[in-house]
Amino acid sequence: MEISYYISSWLFTLILALAPLFFLLILKQKCANTKHKLPPGQMGLPWLGETMDFYRAQQANRLFEDFVRPRIARHGKIFKTRLMGSPTVIVSGAEANRFFLSNEFKLVMSSWPSSSVRLMGKNSIMEKHGEQHRHVHGLIASSLGSSSAESLVPKLSKLVQRHLDAHWSGQERIYLYNFTKNLTFHIVFECLLGIDVELGMKEIFERVLEGVFAPPVTVPGTRFSRAMRARKEIERMLVRIVRKKKEEMDRKNLGGGGGGSEEGGAVLLPRYVAAMLRGEMSEEEVIDNIVLLVFAAYDTTSFAIAMTFRMLAHHPNCYQLLLKEHMDVKSRKGEGEDISGEDIKKMSYTWKVARESIRLFPPIFGSFRKAIVDIEYEGFTIPKGWKVLWTTYGTHYDPEHFQDPMSFNPDRFEEAMPPYVYVPFGGGPRVCAGSQLARMNILVLVHHVVTRYDWSLIHPDEPITVDPLPFPVHGMPMRISPK
Ligand code: HEM
Ligand SMILES: *[C@@H]1O[C@H](CO)[C@@H](O)[C@H](O)[C@H]1NC(C)=O
Ligand SMILES: *[C@@H]1O[C@H](CO)[C@@H](O)[C@H](O)[C@H]1NC(C)=O
Repeated sequence: MEISYYISSWLFTLILALAPLFFLLILKQKCANTKHKLPPGQMGLPWLGETMDFYRAQQANRLFEDFVRPRIARHGKIFKTRLMGSPTVIVSGAEANRFFLSNEFKLVMSSWPSSSVRLMGKNSIMEKHGEQHRHVHGLIASSLGSSSAESLVPKLSKLVQRHLDAHWSGQERIYLYNFTKNLTFHIVFECLLGIDVELGMKEIFERVLEGVFAPPVTVPGTRFSRAMRARKEIERMLVRIVRKKKEEMDRKNLGGGGGGSEEGGAVLLPRYVAAMLRGEMSEEEVIDNIVLLVFAAYDTTSFAIAMTFRMLAHHPNCYQLLLKEHMDVKSRKGEGEDISGEDIKKMSYTWKVARESIRLFPPIFGSFRKAIVDIEYEGFTIPKGWKVLWTTYGTHYDPEHFQDPMSFNPDRFEEAMPPYVYVPFGGGPRVCAGSQLARMNILVLVHHVVTRYDWSLIHPDEPITVDPLPFPVHGMPMRISPK
């Protein structure tokens, strides 16, 4: 009796003493549970996850329609999946774009497949963070700042006309996409970098780009190993070009004294080399950033131009308005007088048409980030090390932001757009550094084409495929006749 009383009272005290502890434990458990609530969604098979569904949808350029949208309907605007072994959270919407894009370096970092990194080079801007990233981004962006980009117009315009003369004169049929690719390649080298294109350069670069999203298998005969060989060839070519420029600038500095950083105005190679001479950039960094620029500029701008023409072919009323804009610009010019940076400002309707085409056909689907800490977002936890994929389509195709989103309506750009809604060029610290060049490229080419030629598409609804960026499968054949 005595003992049992003793035990029970002892137990009672113990329970009393421990109760708050238990309570705390339960509470902690609960907190931990809510704290570690993962977003909804299916992780699929081990390692592979939902990779096959992802690639199948991507190939048909229906990644949003066939992969993302059905999962948004099931799970909401934030859901998890597994792609190529990586747990990944796909997010959509302006708020998500703002959160993940503006928190680059703080919560997330851009994350590229190892094949891309090995082919672009580990010293390019995409592998740089913080201060080092800011420096290179600044160099590119400042040579393309609004006013500098306009100063590129005369040179760009000459180049466009030279290409039209070489490839369109005397032809009845041209391939618009193939043409714009070649043109864009020359624009990046000659107008942006200030490097003359050498024979065979484009083909070598193309071989590198083909491997950027290929599995990183170095067995001879694979896409990746071919791309790596091409990368070595490019390196040799660029080392020669960069060293020659360096010698040239060294000599000038010795003779004339100073002024090295001013050299070349908007042109990028002398700026890179000047940074090299100041010890701010290594030769490897200069070379990797040249390769990366071509990758960033080439397929993206070409696809944007192709889709702008496709939309013009589908919307004759818009075409009439656009044509009038360019005829007005042309009529104010003297015989043989070329367009200038000022004239670009008069092409506002054309830029609306281009922006609307890019909204419907964004060249970049979105891009991957990696969580560098555990991230709390919308009541969910995204664990450190997981990937995050933000998308352009998530807002571009959302009726909340674009009324009747699938219809083509350039006038919707008359109204100011809230931030992070129209995001073909991304946002935050990694916002596209070349959007101004893309704009000049599109406007100048459209100007010369529509003022010089009548044209029509041979396949107005040509299928689009993705490898690794979207392009029209037949190269966009076009019937043309001079005006
Ligand atoms: C219509 C054409 C273009 C589109 C749609 C486009 C789109 C984009 C997007 C979405 C990003 C951000 C990627 C991310 O957040 O991970 C980006 C970055 C970048 N783009 Fe573009 N781009 C275009 C043309 C160009 C051109 C012509 C250049 C060349 C000067 C260029 C240079 C770059 C660079 C250097 C970056 C990396 C910026 C950084 O990491 O700080 N882009 N582009
Ligand atoms: C690209 O354009 C240049 C200059 O017009 C021309 O010499 C070259 O043959 C073109 N390359 C292709 C593949 O069309
Ligand atoms: C145009 O480009 C496409 C895709 O890059 C290619 O398959 C096709 O052979 C090219 N066509 C011509 C006529 O150059």
